[in-house]
Amino acid sequence: MSDKEIFQIPPSFAAQAGVDGARLRQMTDAAARDPEQFWLGEAGRLDWTQRPTVASGSSFADDVSIRWFADGRLNASVNCLDRHLAERGEQIALIWQGQEAAQVERLTYRALHERVCRMANVLRGLGVGKGDRVAIHLPMVVEGVVAMLACARIGALHVVLFGGFSAEGLADRLNDSGAVAVITADEARRGPKRIALKTVMDEALARGVPSVRHMLVLAVTGLDVPMQEGRDLALTPLLAQAAPDCAAAEMEAEDPLFLLYTSGSTGKPKGMVHSTGGYMVWASFTHELVFDHRAGDVFWCTADISWITGHTYVVYGPLANGGTILLFEGLPSYPAPGRWWEVIDTHKVTTFYTAPTAIRSLMRDDDAVVKRHALDSLRLLGSVGEPISPDAWVWFHEAVGRGRCPVVDTWWQTETGGILIAPVPGAVPQKPGSATLPLPGVEAVLLTDKGELIEGEGEGCLCIARSWPGQARTIWGGHERFRHTYFSFSPGYYFSGDGARRDADGYYWITGRIDDVINVSGHRIGTAEVEDVVATDHRFVECAAVGVPHDIKGQGLVVFAVARDASVPDLAEAASLAVTKGIGRYAVPERVYLVPDLPKTRSGKIVRRLLRKIACHELDGLGDLSTLADATIVDRLIAVVGPAK
Ligand code: WT7
Repeated sequence: MSDKEIFQIPPSFAAQAGVDGARLRQMTDAAARDPEQFWLGEAGRLDWTQRPTVASGSSFADDVSIRWFADGRLNASVNCLDRHLAERGEQIALIWQGQEAAQVERLTYRALHERVCRMANVLRGLGVGKGDRVAIHLPMVVEGVVAMLACARIGALHVVLFGGFSAEGLADRLNDSGAVAVITADEARRGPKRIALKTVMDEALARGVPSVRHMLVLAVTGLDVPMQEGRDLALTPLLAQAAPDCAAAEMEAEDPLFLLYTSGSTGKPKGMVHSTGGYMVWASFTHELVFDHRAGDVFWCTADISWITGHTYVVYGPLANGGTILLFEGLPSYPAPGRWWEVIDTHKVTTFYTAPTAIRSLMRDDDAVVKRHALDSLRLLGSVGEPISPDAWVWFHEAVGRGRCPVVDTWWQTETGGILIAPVPGAVPQKPGSATLPLPGVEAVLLTDKGELIEGEGEGCLCIARSWPGQARTIWGGHERFRHTYFSFSPGYYFSGDGARRDADGYYWITGRIDDVINVSGHRIGTAEVEDVVATDHRFVECAAVGVPHDIKGQGLVVFAVARDASVPDLAEAASLAVTKGIGRYAVPERVYLVPDLPKTRSGKIVRRLLRKIACHELDGLGDLSTLADATIVDRLIAVVGPAK
């Protein structure tokens, strides 16, 4: 398919869309001409206890300081709950669909408000307050959303931790954040399997996490789990006893709302700090604009709440806008293929937001599976997390959207807080594989490796020239790392780490990470993280990790390890185990090669580009080998990997 292939906005969609081309142009012009005025106007979408009088006071120069709506005061949970009570207290805020068809819960805004207040009171009762960090380690159950909003209510920062992290991965993040309390569950259901959340959390705390005073344990499957006297508390009875209302803490716009860990090209995962005011404006603004939100929508974002997509588009964006969210505990194909389609029909989902890795795996089912379902409630489809190939895009559009629903391919990152580049669906015709155009107020640019600005058509590094309200403010405990990671590539620009091409229509085509970050099924993994955990096993001298294309996962991880003594048995398994223990199951390498040495430049830098090509059996274009300290390594590596599949 060529870049020229354009999918016009389906007329039935255009006829009722909230924002058309003319309106979008107006917004884009207004945001560029007078950003201060534009964003102060957009701040009006929230309820403030004190309206802000200034919008941006941000600077990407020098120390880097990002501030929005600095004199405003508000509470995020009030914006997601209390302010809707008068008008839509009896409207469904959250539909929970459990793994089994019969497990369904529907909560009105009033009911959700009450649940959040109870949880907030439990936390306050334990002495948790403004500025404290609370780790949330829960499956996709109602209490996950409730716990996030409860933290927001009392001004504590939530740190949501993925259920797939290993004990070591959890301990690192708990220690870095200094969490005072952990909210976990006995177990999570995952298809026929059970994940022992509490046990993994016990192991994490046993590694030494002195800041954690309390562990609250929610009963999900009802398994009897050992409780540590003085530290662990059964959460379910505490919630039942707690008072059903709780005064919200008044927060400054710049008070952090949460920390969320993500991986970079160097070092350990970093806790990105998101603000209260700017983040909430961005979540609400982008959710309404990109998903053409209107009353009556049932919004299903399939992301786990432990990822930024879950924060912004399962919880904060749609609830700030008074929407109805669907929270699904299960898997796409459990108990049988077509489960997701069944959920869409059952709950009359209008807006369905998922990831290319899921789309690719669903495409593999017989088309009869998706065709069996009506899917006639769907109005709009969305994709996020990695580049979507044109064939997956078209399948999503035709087989799922029945040609009637626009597909919004949304580009953003943990650091950006919300969507930056995406087609506003009633205004921008789509090209499969392109995230299309920056949203109003987003000044995207392409820079060369040397930091020179590329005008017009071209390809380069995707950077942003001006702050936007949803931008992460800093790295928890590491402002200098923040400045260095994102603002030193080219001073004055936010560096995304992604490459992109811009076509003649100004559309952006994200080509993927240009740094040492790989994207496995939408999970960001730093190659340095992988290398560090393998290196802690002294049977290895060193190792290098690279990403290679993978049919379903997008990228898969391949590890090249140099053993101290190659005659020791089972070393490849040992390297693999080091990765799953140090990071989590989701990072399991596709292949581990035990090699005699790694290719390095004369200055000792590992040449990952070469390893990637060899791992992909692309032996024709190995490129310039003259920079290698020892060029004979190439043939020895090929001998291990094999010439072709
Ligand atoms: C990285 C950010 C944004 C929430 C989920 C991932 C890749 C994200 C797209 C897209 C091409 C994309 C980028 C980005 N990415 N969306 N629509 N097209 N690539 O958040 O874990 O912070 O990862 O995901 O490489 O840098 P994240």
